[in-house]
Amino acid sequence: MDISKYNKPFKGRSFLKLLDYTPTEIEALLDLSAELKAEKKAGIPHRIHTGKTIALLFEKTSTRTRCAFEVAAYDLGMNTVYLDPSGSQLGKKESIDDTAKVLGRMFDGIEYRGFGQENVVALAEFSGVPVWNGLTNEFHPTQVLADLLTIREHFGSLEGRKLAFFGDARFNMGRSLMVGCAKMGMNFTACTNAKYFPPEDLAETCRKICAQSGGSITFTEDPAEGAQGADAVYTDVWVSMGEPAEAWKERIEDLLPYKVTPSVMAAAKTDAIFLHCLPSFHDLKTTIGREIHEKYGLDSMEVSDEVFLSPASLVFDEAENRMHTIKAVMAATL
Ligand code: CP
Ligand code: NVA
Repeated sequence: MDISKYNKPFKGRSFLKLLDYTPTEIEALLDLSAELKAEKKAGIPHRIHTGKTIALLFEKTSTRTRCAFEVAAYDLGMNTVYLDPSGSQLGKKESIDDTAKVLGRMFDGIEYRGFGQENVVALAEFSGVPVWNGLTNEFHPTQVLADLLTIREHFGSLEGRKLAFFGDARFNMGRSLMVGCAKMGMNFTACTNAKYFPPEDLAETCRKICAQSGGSITFTEDPAEGAQGADAVYTDVWVSMGEPAEAWKERIEDLLPYKVTPSVMAAAKTDAIFLHCLPSFHDLKTTIGREIHEKYGLDSMEVSDEVFLSPASLVFDEAENRMHTIKAVMAATL
């Protein structure tokens, strides 16, 4: 792996949101991800950051993001230190700014998962080392890189493809996917109850990006219209981490018409794929899934088990791609 052909525009930069990166840079990160993935599959090591150490700061729980950062770091020859939601002074006894200054003295890079986007911005400003956003309420950019890689691998290209997002499009996934699609010249549709459309100021920013990229941004409350012509149908949980459990009742009422079912997939293109950032409530094998079943009688929530387990569902390829894309972001920015 000759990282020098990739890392010139990236070295020393943080990865906080896709809005900060040009389409060419995003494409380069996808190319690097694909190259690292091919090397890993071929058993070719790429320990290009041997001896470096990164901090993984999680104020919310995680399976994929944490594992992706850890495995990717080891593959690059690095060490990791994991700080769990209760394992640091962050926010409680020490400000983000002070924490950032301390971590910046010890680590070569910092991953942060937490609440407001302002936290990841402050970490980047005060640590002086690259900071990678592992999910905030507003954005989940490493997830979208994995999603774009999955779509590109499957269809061979991104430009002109339609991605239809069903469900809560106001939160991190709907917002980040809208940005990612706009950047890559894709057609993004948020298909949901109007209460859950992405914020208008961000949509306006994305429409301006689309004027250059050739993409488009559409909002609709009609599931058939939302799915029509879609290459990828995407959904996310209806209640996100950090939101109160009381939110379920209203979300279920509002978003049930936007559950991804076989009829939604039938309204999309015949070769459409299904994507989900995961974790997903598609059956009764989780505690929360069973609680919701007892209270509201639902067997699944944002996606039916049938769609989730169908051949069109690429959710586990997508999950694997978290690791390859996160590795590319770290390889390029360190
Ligand atoms: N998709 C995603 O970010 O998964 P985790 O919450 O498990 O990290
Ligand atoms: N919107 C979800 C995404 C999880 C990857 C959440 O924030 O919980």
